Amino acid sequence: MAAVPGSLRCLVRLLLMASFVLLQALSAHAITRHYKFNVIMRNVTRLCSTKPILTVNGKFPGPTLYAREDDNVLVKVVNHVTHNVTIHWHGVRQIRTGWSDGPAYITQCPIQPGTSFLYNFTVTGQRGTLLWHAHINWLRATVHGAIVILPKLGVPYPFPTPHKEVVVVLGEWWKADTEVVINQAMQQGVGPNVSDSHTINGHPGPLSDCASSQDGFKLNVENGKTYMLRIINAALNDDLFFKIAGHKFTVVEVDAVYTKPFKTATLLITPGQTTNVLLTADRTAGRYLLSVSPFMDAPVQVDNKTGTATLHYANTISATAPLTLIKPPPQNATTIVSKFVESLRSLNSEEYPANVPLTVDHSLVFTVGVGVNPCAKCINATRLVGTINNVTFIMPSTPILQAHYYNIPGVFTDDFPATPPHKFNYTGSGPKNLQTMKGTRVYRLPYNASVQVVLQDTGIISPESHPIHLHGFNFFVVGNGVGNYNPKTSPSTFNLIDPIERNTIGVPTGGWAAIRFRADNPGVWFMHCHFEVHTSWGLKMVFVVDNGKRPDETLIPPPKDLPQC
Ligand code: C2O
Repeated sequence: MAAVPGSLRCLVRLLLMASFVLLQALSAHAITRHYKFNVIMRNVTRLCSTKPILTVNGKFPGPTLYAREDDNVLVKVVNHVTHNVTIHWHGVRQIRTGWSDGPAYITQCPIQPGTSFLYNFTVTGQRGTLLWHAHINWLRATVHGAIVILPKLGVPYPFPTPHKEVVVVLGEWWKADTEVVINQAMQQGVGPNVSDSHTINGHPGPLSDCASSQDGFKLNVENGKTYMLRIINAALNDDLFFKIAGHKFTVVEVDAVYTKPFKTATLLITPGQTTNVLLTADRTAGRYLLSVSPFMDAPVQVDNKTGTATLHYANTISATAPLTLIKPPPQNATTIVSKFVESLRSLNSEEYPANVPLTVDHSLVFTVGVGVNPCAKCINATRLVGTINNVTFIMPSTPILQAHYYNIPGVFTDDFPATPPHKFNYTGSGPKNLQTMKGTRVYRLPYNASVQVVLQDTGIISPESHPIHLHGFNFFVVGNGVGNYNPKTSPSTFNLIDPIERNTIGVPTGGWAAIRFRADNPGVWFMHCHFEVHTSWGLKMVFVVDNGKRPDETLIPPPKDLPQC
């Protein structure tokens, strides 16, 4: 530009600027993103052994799905394996598109071997990190991956733009075939084997007792730069702590909702939850251990192995440079968890308000927990069952969404109890022989109803934390506490200003959590414990939300290629 006279230079700059603005305006439109998910078997080596696992496109974890807010996403899922498959876009609201939600026999028949299905949905009013996973039996153990929803083009994050973004998927690894693990447990009526390791982006890490996983995941950073970690707990059955030696995190988003930023050294993420944090690489050099370890504050067996990875500074030459170790939190560190949970608040800014329902049309109390039923063929002559309000949910063979849409009788009943049918000291030792009712019961809601659900843990077998996930909605966690919810005194403790908004909530062990949402999404929406073992046992139920009056309050018709059972 040196030879160009000043006025011309100015004109060129103006033109450049104008074309840039024009380009931005043109590309600010939402686009359609096409993905192809080939479900195939693939041999992978972990923990000194090689075994074939189900994967998407041969990857473990699977491919990251990128979209911007408002984009239309088309994912063609082709089933090349011998198992039935479905994929769920966990946390994507699926407004009016329940056909693409994915839970088998709730919204669709499975995609059978040799067939395919095109999932078609639009990402509306959400930005952040979510996950996709198989939603049939225990296939999500290996069939899962990240969903990254970027803000609309030109819309900044409500926090400093990070230098780089890194997806971190946490998981569990079994040496055995997970389908065999759960099938055996279901036959015997007892708890399944726990996993053999926790993984970080597919690897148990450098401290695992196996040479083949020597390296593990490496997070490369440069001194002085800030990174955004998009962390996902894709494990089947374990709440997970996440720490990095010598570093703190600033939490900025959970479950694709911005939060008030806060600093913490330890994260707690339940299965199905996601957490975005900013990490400033404020050390000069070195290698720092990252640890992923279980949280369990009840007498329930979990995989106690710590998954590891390394944070590696760019100017640290050798991969054998001294590693700064870290002690993971004690497995039963309830106080660390409650402190973390208490710190979570919706951002509730002008651009991102927390629209908490202030009145309640349907006030529900659901006990959630594990019970025991008689079972002649089982090992102890009893069977462990999951229950919500003493109902053990039975999966239908016709998907509930189809039955609802086509008015097919005999598939479900809409008599799910609004409150516990038996009152007892829920978090005390409880009645030991409270046999559960079985049924495919749903709770029906009119369009746009405002709903409060108090999720009350029970101690029938043992109190235990339950990560309860609701499909089709985000909810606000307006309150929580230990012991039994008290309808007289507990509501006065509610936060209706800036409670955290999310799609999965860890109900505290021997305690309760109160959530609120507006039923502004017609369709059939699964709610269940995201500990897969509890879902298998029946800790699940369904909300049916009727259509509203306007066309845009109505479920869209089913796609032509919807799988048949
Ligand atoms: Cu991520 Cu119904 O689940």
